[in-house]
Amino acid sequence: MLQRINDPVLQVPDQEFDRALRPRTLNEFIGQNHLKQLLDISIKAAKLRKEPLDHVLFYGPPGLGKTTLASIIAREMGVNITVSSGPVMEKPGDLAGILTNLQRHEVFFIDEIHRLSHVIEEYIYPAIEDFEMEIILDSGPSARTLKIDIEPFTLIGATTRAGLLTPPLRDRFGIVLRLDYYDQESIQRIIQRSARILDVKADEEGIFEMASRSRGTPRIANRLLRRVRDFAQIMGDGTITRDIACEALEMLQVDHAGLDEMDKRILLTIMENYRGGPVGIKTLATAIGEDAGTIEEIFEPYLVQQGFLDRSPQGRRATHKAYKHLGITPTDTQIDIF
Ligand SMILES: Nc1ncnc2c1ncn2[C@@H]1O[C@H](COP(=O)(O)OP(=O)(O)OP(=O)(O)O)[C@@H](O)[C@H]1O
Ligand SMILES: [Mg+2]
Repeated sequence: MLQRINDPVLQVPDQEFDRALRPRTLNEFIGQNHLKQLLDISIKAAKLRKEPLDHVLFYGPPGLGKTTLASIIAREMGVNITVSSGPVMEKPGDLAGILTNLQRHEVFFIDEIHRLSHVIEEYIYPAIEDFEMEIILDSGPSARTLKIDIEPFTLIGATTRAGLLTPPLRDRFGIVLRLDYYDQESIQRIIQRSARILDVKADEEGIFEMASRSRGTPRIANRLLRRVRDFAQIMGDGTITRDIACEALEMLQVDHAGLDEMDKRILLTIMENYRGGPVGIKTLATAIGEDAGTIEEIFEPYLVQQGFLDRSPQGRRATHKAYKHLGITPTDTQIDIF
């Protein structure tokens, strides 16, 4: 599949830059001030009491800093972090291996925690509640259970789909934090910081232009910066100006609002095939040839947040703003609904 320039999901070429650009302390972490304050207080209090930090759940769209925050927490607590993910842990033994190796107050990070199997989930409950794990030895009549003590630790879970977590699992997190899209100013500061680290020259207007098209997502902001930097070196003197940024982003097919071809296809399909909606997500997904979950998780949140798309129990509707943005005049019947 073609890689979308404004896909918030991590792509292979991002990885090396990700490491260089990832903030390491709460101070370096830009934006999300409310969330940072809460974390800062919780971390300080836990350290004062010499206790592990409460279990933390981060949820929100991809690329907003969930993994980054997990590492920051470990660093601020002064402990190691062990990283795994929901689909990777298949057998109870996988989990037991990790938990029994944890040192006092360490962080265990489970990415994509909504994809944890039910079996593993059952084992996790006593582990995070009482710091113990029961392992069944042998099977059949000779089966015995062995109780293992685990060092007190902090579980940090991250998910883009909080709705898919079972309520008992969700309830066991003492700190539940939602990451939301960043505002324009925060994204500008993130681009400024990244440009400094990568030694890229960019003027204020250039940064403004890239930030406006980053869908409020740091991962996309960093990716646009990297791509536009190439254009600046070839087409200009290396400095990212407004003109260079606009020209580059036009070529990369990211428009003023940060929408790409796929976003436009979603909106156009609703307008042209379903008279502006409402249309059910499954029908829409089939018409576009994309997975319904991907549309819901990756594309829709931003379109809804920006007011291009309306989500209701009846289905999806293109808003007036969407018609205006795409330069399409709604038909008479479509005007009725506005
Ligand atoms: N507040 C921030 N300040 C500066 N850079 C940030 C910030 N948040 C995220 N980033 C940058 O964005 C990149 C993506 O963040 P991260 O990998 O933590 O997102 P994520 O929420 O875990 O995404 P996913 O859901 O795909 O796992 C990081 O490499 C980091 O460089
Ligand atoms: Mg992540």
